[in-house]
Amino acid sequence: MMFASTGILSLLLSTVLAAPAALVDRDSPSYVPLDAECPSESLVRAASGLSTKEEAYRVSRKAVADEALKSWLVETNSEFRTDELPTVALSSSGGGYRAMLSGAGVIQGLDARDSNVSTSGLFQAITYHSALSGGAWLLTSFAGNNYPTISSLAYNLWGLAIQDSLLDPQALGALIDYLTIADEIALKQSAGFDTTLIDVYGRLLGYQLYEEADGGAGVTLSSITGFSNFTSHAVPYPIITALGAKVWLGQCSPGPNATTYEFSPFEFGSWDSDVSAFTPTKYLGTSMKGGNPVSSCTTNYDNIGYIAGTSSDIFAGELCTQLSDPNSELVTGMEQILVKVHEISTSDQYATYRNPFYEYQSSTQVPNPANDIGDQESLSLVDGGVALQNNPIFPLLQPARKVDVLIVNDNSADTSYNWPNGSEILTTYVQSFNHNLTRMPYIPPVDTFIAEGLNTRATFFGCNESSKITIVYLPNADFTFASNVSTTQLSYSEAEQAAMIANGVQIVTQGGKAGWGTCLGCAVMMKTGQTLPDDCTSCFAEYCYYQ
Ligand SMILES: *[C@@H]1O[C@H](CO)[C@@H](O)[C@H](O)[C@H]1NC(C)=O
Ligand SMILES: *[C@@H]1O[C@H](CO)[C@@H](O)[C@H](O)[C@H]1NC(C)=O
Ligand SMILES: *[C@@H]1O[C@H](CO)[C@@H](O)[C@H](O)[C@H]1NC(C)=O
Ligand SMILES: *[C@@H]1O[C@H](CO)[C@@H](O)[C@H](O)[C@H]1NC(C)=O
Ligand SMILES: *[C@@H]1O[C@H](CO)[C@@H](O)[C@H](O)[C@H]1NC(C)=O
Ligand SMILES: *[C@@H]1O[C@H](CO)[C@@H](O)[C@H](O)[C@H]1NC(C)=O
Ligand SMILES: *[C@@H]1O[C@H](CO)[C@@H](O)[C@H](O)[C@H]1NC(C)=O
Repeated sequence: MMFASTGILSLLLSTVLAAPAALVDRDSPSYVPLDAECPSESLVRAASGLSTKEEAYRVSRKAVADEALKSWLVETNSEFRTDELPTVALSSSGGGYRAMLSGAGVIQGLDARDSNVSTSGLFQAITYHSALSGGAWLLTSFAGNNYPTISSLAYNLWGLAIQDSLLDPQALGALIDYLTIADEIALKQSAGFDTTLIDVYGRLLGYQLYEEADGGAGVTLSSITGFSNFTSHAVPYPIITALGAKVWLGQCSPGPNATTYEFSPFEFGSWDSDVSAFTPTKYLGTSMKGGNPVSSCTTNYDNIGYIAGTSSDIFAGELCTQLSDPNSELVTGMEQILVKVHEISTSDQYATYRNPFYEYQSSTQVPNPANDIGDQESLSLVDGGVALQNNPIFPLLQPARKVDVLIVNDNSADTSYNWPNGSEILTTYVQSFNHNLTRMPYIPPVDTFIAEGLNTRATFFGCNESSKITIVYLPNADFTFASNVSTTQLSYSEAEQAAMIANGVQIVTQGGKAGWGTCLGCAVMMKTGQTLPDDCTSCFAEYCYYQ
């Protein structure tokens, strides 16, 4: 059981939904996928490197990030040399609202616009930001609203929206919005697209995460490419991950070898050898065969809330054997909305996407006849964190992205007390070999994490491995608040939210520990080959993990 019952909402819902659905306002930006002319360029490509668009963004962003990194380093410790500057990335883990709020505090503590601590300004120096599940709620809220500060998001949107259940955020206002959601989904269904519980989930999340009065019904992931902070390269390139369930093999929830898919403003696809291809995110929903559109193209399928819902679809495993979890008011409530559209079946537990790679074989693919994804007309995607890899690190190990230093904020609930214990990042290390990813530094066993307390304080991994990225591991820990809130807690008072975010700031500053700013700078600059401040020697002794 993932979500606890919280009130009388299902009763309310059943009453309201007995009324016939009203038509949604067709003049306002709508959730329904649109018919569009196909672009002249190809809709699929082999995963042989970055797309030209992402590469152009990466290069421009790195130039902006370099300036910010230079300023931060010099301000932190005047002994830093800045002739050569590494590419820095951030990953925000899953873990429901715990991860969203704790991760938000980490961003606030890195963001020069929003804090004045030892790490403020480093967000401006980050080139890539990956997220999954609760982290994807954070990242899509941040990006989908054109990157306001965390404090303003918390104050203007989350404060009210998250103090009530997902089924009843105050921002949702009138109960008629449940009818609107059912209507929107009915229109998507009648336009010929399969709809599932994740459509409902994504729309409900939308009211908590996006500032538009309609909960971001018309905001797509690809539309971020037109936002001012994206076009000015003021922000890191966002990447959200999800896993593929091989439902045609009877697989209910993906195992450790699952295909990792990534969604970014430009592209959707996978680097894994069984897919090894990408398609433009803007044209998701298009019926494809052999790399070509079957007829016209589709746009507006990549609703940002739907993608956030895809990455946080933890229902799949839960609903494998039974259609409904009687203990989960959320699932029951969502089913009551979806049943207005169609009868519920087990396939409704997945986020569904027409397979852009149907009957397509990319030149870089290693086909696996036993589980040929190319034979499938649709993909069934679930939460990126379900296979014990709650930190979205794989996309940042891709050599083409040239990431040198990765800040991993791990908000996993591994222990019975809802703290991380290292098992998620360890699984990523172990699985990196099965995915031909060679840049992951050595990660020790869970026993070591626990014995040495690596799961409660900052640790640098990869210090003496020159061919690997450096990982700055920042686990969730109690600095000023018991931030080990259960994943099943679906509402937070405004005071709890503020305390979680404030504790997140403490996580990134390690409780304001003296010298931490310099030590973080040492980790960032470690492998550039430049002379480092004298203090780095003691920093490495304190924070580096050596095998
Ligand atoms: C940040 O704090 C320091 C010391 O607490 C202070 O000297 C500085 O002026 C502050 N900077 C900003 C931008 O508020
Ligand atoms: C995004 O753009 C707005 C408006 O120009 C600006 O206020 C904000 O600081 C920008 N965000 C970032 C991260 O630079
Ligand atoms: C560590 O986390 C894993 C995965 O969540 C869990 O199965 C295991 O029991 C935990 N071990 C300890 C010692 O906390
Ligand atoms: C949080 O952690 C503390 C100890 O670290 C534990 O006593 C408490 O029960 C935990 N709370 C939850 C909700 O897991
Ligand atoms: C994962 O894949 C690798 C390589 O394809 C294989 O050796 C390994 O046994 C697989 N592990 C699991 C748990 O399926
Ligand atoms: C890794 O690379 C080898 C050799 O090219 C290939 O046979 C294998 O399928 C790849 N595995 C994955 C999971 O990418
Ligand atoms: C890193 O240092 C440890 C301990 O000094 C050593 O055992 C290990 O072999 C080193 N690894 C590399 C890649 O140099």
